[in-house]
Amino acid sequence: MSGIQTFTMIKPVAVKNNYIGPILHMINEAGFRIKAMKFTHLTKQQAMVFYSVHEGKSFFEDLTSFMSSGPIVAAILEKDNAVADFRQLIGATDPAKAEQGTIRKLYAESMSHNAVHGSDSDENAIIESDFFFSKMERY
Ligand code: CMP
Repeated sequence: MSGIQTFTMIKPVAVKNNYIGPILHMINEAGFRIKAMKFTHLTKQQAMVFYSVHEGKSFFEDLTSFMSSGPIVAAILEKDNAVADFRQLIGATDPAKAEQGTIRKLYAESMSHNAVHGSDSDENAIIESDFFFSKMERY
């Protein structure tokens, strides 16, 4: 079993399409507790730092431009087995491959416009949470 913390972002396209409410509802219904949350807008530079593990890949420019194109919702979520359970809730990175009923199947448009981000490991959940939130912003 993995740790109790994961990190998510509701991406610009999902915010623009008014899906913040439905996505947060699904997150709550799946048993996640919101430990921290903010509505913010990444600069291109911040998006490049956040996604620096993907630097050099073909989609890096598109990804970081898109992620800085409008506001996002960032949140730390808590639940037993958080990373794996959240990845199951959101579905595959490519919405065409995501299972029925997953957040990406319902709300994503494409691989790059895939509605939400979810940490891929406990280690990255901590790094990503620390990128956005100080200790005082966690409840
Ligand atoms: P995310 O979970 O935010 O983590 C990295 C993002 O890069 C991923 O969601 C996708 O939006 C994007 N991504 C990953 N692989 C590709 C790809 N092959 N083509 C375009 N975008 C990709």
